[in-house]
Amino acid sequence: MNKAARLALLLMLAPLAACGSAPAATDAPLAGAKLGGAFSLIDQDGRRVTDKDFAGRYRLMYFGYTFCPDVCPVDLQKLMQGYAAFEKTNPVAAAKLQPIFVTIDPARDTPAALKQYVALFHPRLIGLTGTEAEIAATAKAYAVPYQRVESEGSNDYLMDHGRQAILYGSAGEPIALVPQEGAPDVIASELAKWVN
Ligand code: NI
Repeated sequence: MNKAARLALLLMLAPLAACGSAPAATDAPLAGAKLGGAFSLIDQDGRRVTDKDFAGRYRLMYFGYTFCPDVCPVDLQKLMQGYAAFEKTNPVAAAKLQPIFVTIDPARDTPAALKQYVALFHPRLIGLTGTEAEIAATAKAYAVPYQRVESEGSNDYLMDHGRQAILYGSAGEPIALVPQEGAPDVIASELAKWVN
């Protein structure tokens, strides 16, 4: 094959090779799990957003509520410290990952409340709320159980909730659990394993 023919062949193959370079991570721990899917919610700026707004981006999803006295703030702090460490070592990959906090307490977590809260953890963390029905449907699809718990002698209430942090791919497919209790470098290396 002469040079020109070889170049022509390379050019012809190039787009195919590009497609082939981003295979679905079939070896991912959660590959094929029935988790995630469509949602339509309101972000911390009061805008309606759906899962389609995140098409092409990886998503790190964590559900909780801003009144959570201990678990959510600690988990979010660790997750976002891990994300910040990932950003530092691999800013290009980290930019393709959207961290998302979804409330399971929409009665109290208005967009304004979420806006203040997410800013405490990372400038790129977004907060989502919605109607009770929208939140219930989303939590169900993402397999996050929750229930209201009355606290005695107070008008306040607590919410029990699942606390798993799950990494989803750019098409919304589940990839892996992220160890939200881990040190920042442990979380960062788990993200680096899948986000590229
Ligand atoms: Ni919590």
